[in-house]
Amino acid sequence: MVSGRTIEIAPSILSADFARLGEEIAAVERGGAGILHVDVMDGHFVPNITIGLPVVKSLAAATRLPIDAHLMISEPGRYAEQFVAAGAKMVSVHVEADPHLHRTLMAIKGAGAQAGIAINPATSLGEIEEAIGFADYILIMSVNPGFGGQRFINPALQKVRRLRQMLDERRLNAKIEIDGGIDLNNIAEVVAAGAEILVAGSAIFGAADPQEATRLMREATVEWV
Ligand code: DX5
Ligand code: ZN
Repeated sequence: MVSGRTIEIAPSILSADFARLGEEIAAVERGGAGILHVDVMDGHFVPNITIGLPVVKSLAAATRLPIDAHLMISEPGRYAEQFVAAGAKMVSVHVEADPHLHRTLMAIKGAGAQAGIAINPATSLGEIEEAIGFADYILIMSVNPGFGGQRFINPALQKVRRLRQMLDERRLNAKIEIDGGIDLNNIAEVVAAGAEILVAGSAIFGAADPQEATRLMREATVEWV
């Protein structure tokens, strides 16, 4: 079922100008963004280091958009609740990084945020078959986590379709988020496959006008809204 779903554009600030973050976020708010995606990397789980708790705290005070903290860190269970306390309304942890996923997801929910499971391109959906019942959303990675501006890995589309089917069959209402290489060329296809939260970094903040880029992405999904 695709009709009646709410589709949200979630700009990823990873590709924004960090010296002008407030202005960049205001622009995507005006463009119709529904969620602000914040990529937290530790240089250990992924080969890159980005930002952490103090930045999330400042952003939460500066935007009306719900902050979606995508934790690409080892031992996410040690930090997940702290991201909720810092103001994140959604927190996702990687199945590959957490042997105690149930405990971490419950801790995120208990702290008052939506709990998400993120899954890498080469990890099978079978790895999260049990856990999807405990999650508010599932983040399908369509690039290898670590960097913005990578090419969309096409088999992710089929993964979204299969996950949509798994959720529908079990009457679970977890949302499907997709992250990596999303642009105007593939956005309609990922929505048709069943994704509802569309993360885009370089396609928005790499554009000359991030407000307009956000608006165009929203417009490309309107037939589904
Ligand atoms: C990659 C991050 C993404 C990244 C997406 O590890 O999780 O959120 O910012 O960037 P684009 O849209 O440029 O692929
Ligand atoms: Zn991300």
